Amino acid sequence: MLLFGAVAARADEGMWLPALISQRIDAMGQMGCRLSAEDIYSINQASLKDAVVLFGGGCTGELVSDRGLLLTNHHCGYSYIQRHSSVEHDYLKDGFWAGSPEEELPNPGLTVRFLDRMEDVTALMLRGYEPSMSEEQRDSVVEANSASLIRSIENPAEGIRASVEALYYANQYYLFVYRVFSDVRLVGAPPSSIGKFGGDTDNWMWPRHTGDFSVFRIYATPDGKPAAYSPSNVPYRPRKHFRISTAGVREGDFTFVYGCPGSTREYVHSEEVRYIGEVSDPQKIALRTLRLDIQKKYMSQSQAVRIQYSAKNASVANAWKKWQGESKGIARLGAVAAKQEYERRFEKWAEGTSYEGLLPRIKEIHQRREPSYLAYEYLNETVRSIEILRFASEVRNALERGRSTEGITAQFFKDYCQSIDEETFVAIMEAFGKGVPAGLLPRCYTDKLARFGSVEAWKKYVFKKSVFTNPAKVKALGEKDLKRLGKDPALEMWDAFQAWFEQDLRPVIAQTGKELKSAMREYMRGQMEFEPSKAFYPDANLTLRVAYGKVSGYRPVDAVWYNPVSTLKGIIEKDNPDIFDYNIPQVLRDIYEAGGVEDQSVCFLATNHTSGGNSGSPVINADGDLIGINFDRVWEGTMSDLVFDPDYCRNISIDIRYLLFIIERIGGAGWLLEEMDFVPAGSGTVLAANQ
Ligand code: ARG
Ligand code: ASP
Repeated sequence: MLLFGAVAARADEGMWLPALISQRIDAMGQMGCRLSAEDIYSINQASLKDAVVLFGGGCTGELVSDRGLLLTNHHCGYSYIQRHSSVEHDYLKDGFWAGSPEEELPNPGLTVRFLDRMEDVTALMLRGYEPSMSEEQRDSVVEANSASLIRSIENPAEGIRASVEALYYANQYYLFVYRVFSDVRLVGAPPSSIGKFGGDTDNWMWPRHTGDFSVFRIYATPDGKPAAYSPSNVPYRPRKHFRISTAGVREGDFTFVYGCPGSTREYVHSEEVRYIGEVSDPQKIALRTLRLDIQKKYMSQSQAVRIQYSAKNASVANAWKKWQGESKGIARLGAVAAKQEYERRFEKWAEGTSYEGLLPRIKEIHQRREPSYLAYEYLNETVRSIEILRFASEVRNALERGRSTEGITAQFFKDYCQSIDEETFVAIMEAFGKGVPAGLLPRCYTDKLARFGSVEAWKKYVFKKSVFTNPAKVKALGEKDLKRLGKDPALEMWDAFQAWFEQDLRPVIAQTGKELKSAMREYMRGQMEFEPSKAFYPDANLTLRVAYGKVSGYRPVDAVWYNPVSTLKGIIEKDNPDIFDYNIPQVLRDIYEAGGVEDQSVCFLATNHTSGGNSGSPVINADGDLIGINFDRVWEGTMSDLVFDPDYCRNISIDIRYLLFIIERIGGAGWLLEEMDFVPAGSGTVLAANQ
């Protein structure tokens, strides 16, 4: 039985290309799926793919009405909700609900894209390529071929965009044709005490009770074409939208996730896994702990600072916590040793073939790369994370391009707390001196320390002397000041470290990167030949994928079993007016008091293989109806970007019935439910009221 369980669960690993889903549809059917491959992806008829979008630059969203209504996560809409917020209208804190379409809020810069079609264009991309060519020559052949293909397809006026993506380390190329819409309006969001309930304390964890959703609407021209924001645009009528199932989820139910995972590295060498789990993650965690502690101190003292730093803090904290789970997971699984064992078998098999010697070569490249790469990661997590420095370089960029700096300056100071930046400077630049590998510590660091005697004194000088701490002075800057600006201590520091990167780090990283790229292409091909009967899914690259599995609990540690469904009862258990992350709105307490809702389900777990970017993805049942919205993974399973473990890897979704409950009973926006389709028919509002 154990053996059977393991084998069955193994089947859940993978994020598959929708166009090839016919190769998986039998396996999906055996797990309970009742859809055909054409239902999921078709270029001849409307299919589920037409109801899924890439939301912004890194989330997923799904259409739930024929009037362009779109659901995604609260944390995906977060920065837009924040931009509409101020202390007087704090939509982050209080939530926002449009009372009618007229009240929906436009979001300049936000786009969503639908996939029209994808197709294998490997032969076309490699036209003119000879095996004797160098890596650079190969790249330029592919680049030229892809540029001309894209040019022949794109039509920006109609929102038609195309891209060619390398899959399997560029052993294959796929064309993706998209329709991009740029008038996307905010319709509603719950208060953060629901949408971010549990905050960073519960983030990446189970049991979870976060109502992590927000609602948007896509607008188009009256004839349904993508267009920039205009009051004359109308709600977009999508080719397909999801029906909503109110039947609920049970352990063992088939479910799949349709979305845009951003980046995974399942086929890398053990050296890379070792570097991530044992070197990179721990160092980055330590650096971010310093930053987070400082932010937390100031955020807890001031409501204004809390709003200013809410989005910044969430994004710093998010990766920080994920890396902890990842690094632990890699260790717990013995992932490095397991890869090494696999590599031993591969090498044995490779003897006498063209793959002989490949693995030692990859290992050597990794070792040559590591110190420089680590220094580069330090640069990102330190100098490039000091807000004033980054801002200074953005202002200069704008001036150089003859653009106005007013907008970026206003935006920057709206969300800037100089005390946080100053303290952060000291903490992370001290850590820089201790952490950058011996021999790589740059002069621009050591000279400054010698000159000022301490990081503290260096910091004082930068903040005292730089113009970039003063909004009025920054606004007064013009092109004529460009020359002199290079001497500003903030820019001078930014430039010096940038030069260090260009001179000392980039050459090594670029050279080893190029070598790795071609070696990994070979290794990927080798792995596929080594295990000819195994189905290989391409690593995630923000293109549309299908992951499938079952609703399932898990065992996080010995003697503990986690049930897969959380309920409102758990929210009340966690509720605590004195703890910011657990202080629910009074109305929710009142509704609970009135009775009858303790079994209202809130979130659920399943075995779908997801990654960053899958946030906001539709979670779909065996009939293709929407049962939830994906938003996270469990902490013990976050190493799934490198190694998937069926015992620990679970995705976390908000139950669609909780979303309906919140919209109707907390948001008072029941009008939105009227445009949705429910199965069983008509069940939407009744359920929300009765459960
Ligand atoms: N962990 C989720 C994902 O990676 C949600 C992140 C947003 N929430 C937060 N508390 N920072 O993006
Ligand atoms: N929370 C992630 C996202 O924003 C999803 C994940 O990493 O599982 O895409």
